[in-house]
Amino acid sequence: MAGDRPLLSPGSPSSEHSRDIAEEDALLTGQPTHRNHDGPRTWKFWREIGLLVWAIIATVLVVVLAVVYQKSVPAKEPESASGKRNLVFMVSDGMGPTSLSLTRSFMQFQNGAPFNEQLVIDQHMIGQSRTRSASSLITDSAAGATAFSCAQKSYNGAISVTPDHEPCGTVLEAAKKAGYMTGLVVTTRITDATPACFAAHVNMRMEEDRIAEQMVGDYPLGRVVDLMFGGGRCHFLPNSTDDSCRADNKDVVELAKKNGYNYISDRKAFDGLKGGRALKFPMLGLFAETDIPYEIDRRNENDLYPSLHEMAEVALKALSEATKDSDKGFFLMVEGSRIDHAGHHNDPAAQVHEVLAYDKAFTSVLDFLDKDSTQGIMVSTSDHETGGLAVARQLHSTYPEYAWYPGPLSNASHSAERLHQEYQNYLESNPSSSAKRTFLSDSIEKGLGIKDYTGTDIQLLLDDPDHALYTYAELVSRRSQTGWSTHGHSAADVNIYSSDPKAAAALVGNHENTEVGAFLREYLEVDVEAVTKELREKGTNLMATGANGTTIGWMGPVPEEGERLDGQTHLASYSGEFRKRGAVHGRGCDCGH
Ligand SMILES: *[C@@H]1O[C@H](CO)[C@@H](O)[C@H](O)[C@H]1NC(C)=O
Ligand SMILES: *[C@@H]1O[C@H](CO)[C@@H](O)[C@H](O)[C@H]1NC(C)=O
Ligand SMILES: *[C@@H]1O[C@H](CO)[C@@H](O)[C@H](O)[C@H]1NC(C)=O
Ligand SMILES: [Zn+2]
Repeated sequence: MAGDRPLLSPGSPSSEHSRDIAEEDALLTGQPTHRNHDGPRTWKFWREIGLLVWAIIATVLVVVLAVVYQKSVPAKEPESASGKRNLVFMVSDGMGPTSLSLTRSFMQFQNGAPFNEQLVIDQHMIGQSRTRSASSLITDSAAGATAFSCAQKSYNGAISVTPDHEPCGTVLEAAKKAGYMTGLVVTTRITDATPACFAAHVNMRMEEDRIAEQMVGDYPLGRVVDLMFGGGRCHFLPNSTDDSCRADNKDVVELAKKNGYNYISDRKAFDGLKGGRALKFPMLGLFAETDIPYEIDRRNENDLYPSLHEMAEVALKALSEATKDSDKGFFLMVEGSRIDHAGHHNDPAAQVHEVLAYDKAFTSVLDFLDKDSTQGIMVSTSDHETGGLAVARQLHSTYPEYAWYPGPLSNASHSAERLHQEYQNYLESNPSSSAKRTFLSDSIEKGLGIKDYTGTDIQLLLDDPDHALYTYAELVSRRSQTGWSTHGHSAADVNIYSSDPKAAAALVGNHENTEVGAFLREYLEVDVEAVTKELREKGTNLMATGANGTTIGWMGPVPEEGERLDGQTHLASYSGEFRKRGAVHGRGCDCGH
């Protein structure tokens, strides 16, 4: 249709024989065409008018376009010309697409919101990430985070090392070298796999003592993290103190201070940072001995532990203040670490509160980017799905009802983890059997808000206290008809979100997790390969102490052969595992994540 032609189309209308001037007018004015059958004089008259209008409109358009162009070039132009930018990378550990369905329905139920009400994060989805590692179709968080930090696949358990046990430089290390400021904000131990992968290199993720030392700068690159907020204090304290979980008597808090860190360890000191305005870099804030409690429990202990969004907001404020006069911005990683744990525990009530807390932190980051004058972007994704979560559950052998009930999640005021801990503590006082029954009834009624439990439920908790965690969680799962297929991870694709789908265009669609890692380094324009080279050169003859006092390489012991499967195609094959029984009961919760 002629009417669909762009006004300033290069093909001059007059060059087209089939179109006369009236049509041309119609094009310019948007008025319908009236074929003109008047004499030549009138025709000439209208032709001149047409040309005049055309000239005026063209002139006005040129002027308007020039003005609009000048205005539309943002005030940020001088900064982006010098390359200044901020990158916030958010990780929702263990959050699969189904976690969003679960949490969205729960939110609507709780708020009495209509069914089209979304979470904030829902409105920013741009793609999906495929999560397999080099050693398995099901990744762990170590290989998952190595894909982000190094943009490389490695084996499950690898903390930014390659399958052949060489260190790979990380985006955070490269950002630091390039003059950016850097930060890590998590709700788990700061030494856990996801944060560790940005600022440490070890062959086995369970070596958290070694990771703690490296993260405060005791490794080939020296200090690279300007700000750390999270839990995991016990890995920093010498084994001579009560709160320690270290195998040795090294005082890593002292080591951190020697390397310049300002150390804080409680809510009061966190509040003393005055929203970030009083924060002094470098900063190490460890607010819990191990993990910060689940949000479902923490919200009642707000005087003891900061929330994820509070920590994120303080970090954003302080980092942007500190880089105000710099030509480089900052790189901040924010992790909703314990969505994964709620998946491992198969605890749907704990999970929805973790996802809501993540959504809140996500909103804080969006607000910051909106208001900040430096150009910046947030990319958010998960390392993998946990639990094989289904918002459905077949409870009986008859054809299932199509039903899922948020109510039981809303009734629960505590996590199964917390009830389990309280039960274990209670057992230490050697209570009588009837006292135990009363205690357990109370914990179910008050902790989970469940009224219709049975004697069988209590008996299960009495008989198998080591599995109380799973039993408590199961009470909520069955009533809400929430399904879980594993206490571990699954191979599901996970979602990718961004504050800016245009700037993150490379991540729109379905991608390999390593492409997320590649995007991070490309956005910051940092040289990660140079860091890899430096790590390998400086680390060649660098030794450390092994668990039994022997001398080993600085990245610690190498895992058994079976754990370091290599390459993109090597996968373990089926060998009759389904027959293996046992190890289902009588074993405590193995929360290896
Ligand atoms: C504490 O660590 C030292 C080595 O640093 C070790 O000799 C000692 O056995 C450890 N003590 C405990 C209680 O683990
Ligand atoms: C949830 O709490 C309400 C109010 O106390 C109660 O009526 C309901 O039975 C509870 N749900 C379950 C599954 O026990
Ligand atoms: C010390 O541990 C290493 C592995 O970390 C092992 O190969 C070695 O045999 C151990 N040495 C002693 C004396 O136990
Ligand atoms: Zn996990």
